[in-house]
Amino acid sequence: MEFQNRSIISIRDFTREEINHVLNVSQTMEAVADVGTNVLKGKILATLFFEPSTRTRLSFEAAMQKLGGSTIGFNDADTSSTKKGETFVDTIRTVENYADVIALRHNLEGAAVVAKEYSKVPIINSGTGAQEHPTQALIDLYTIQKEKHQIDNLKIAIIGDLRYGRTVHSLARALTNYNVELFLISPEALRIQENILKEIKTKISVTEKQNLEEILPKIDVLYVTRIQRERFPDPAEYAKLKGTYRIDKKMLKTAKKDMIILHPLPRVDEIAPEIDQTPHARYFQQVKNGLHVRMAILSLILGTTK
Ligand code: NCD
Repeated sequence: MEFQNRSIISIRDFTREEINHVLNVSQTMEAVADVGTNVLKGKILATLFFEPSTRTRLSFEAAMQKLGGSTIGFNDADTSSTKKGETFVDTIRTVENYADVIALRHNLEGAAVVAKEYSKVPIINSGTGAQEHPTQALIDLYTIQKEKHQIDNLKIAIIGDLRYGRTVHSLARALTNYNVELFLISPEALRIQENILKEIKTKISVTEKQNLEEILPKIDVLYVTRIQRERFPDPAEYAKLKGTYRIDKKMLKTAKKDMIILHPLPRVDEIAPEIDQTPHARYFQQVKNGLHVRMAILSLILGTTK
């Protein structure tokens, strides 16, 4: 298992053993985060975000600083030379000279692969188009493990925009390393792409449904996602689908008492705020876990943890 100088492009590049190692290191980071450390002093993380972000970028930056490193970057490509017409590749070939690791978010699928090809420092895919968001999947798994004490033998439902949701694609793939039963709930127009469905079905039990009601009583983990408005070629199509699913208290009457609800956030209206006060809600714990998992990722890639 070698993490030093390794790029993180797809969750598919991880074995179960490697994922478990990241989760174990993440746990050790909880105590480190409380006090901070200096192990990454002198190291620099560049965050190049060509798309909006709150949690991913800020948690990567916080994680780097908790470990004693520092950060540079942009969160609006219009303030960078991209605006003047600089190519993406030239941007990468510039930033690699200033940073020891690059966290990249881009609207184009494949951007992380291209960056990796040109960069001499490791690239962390922090969301590429509708494709993947591998570090979010690691956070999701860590949260499930922490809250349910295992990942195997769970019944997990993912509801929402399964077509464009990159966190969904990474999580579904990550779950194929475990013995889980997966339920994919979405309106017809937001079904997961056929090729991804095929890929995960060869490894785990997957059931597609349009409604949650019928299966809800047996679900252990409910993973809710936002409709990815920005990915719709036609705004009218988004308008039609908006509000087609919403989790509220009434709906959860038949849920197991210990069922947990996760969401990569941001939420729009798919989880009613009244749910936040229930014992099901774990999405803000998930946010907190993001800091620890990203600390683990940075310390593994930069070689201060084996
Ligand atoms: C997600 C993303 O950017 O894919 N956010 C995140 O990183 N947690 C989810 C989303 O935007 O809906």
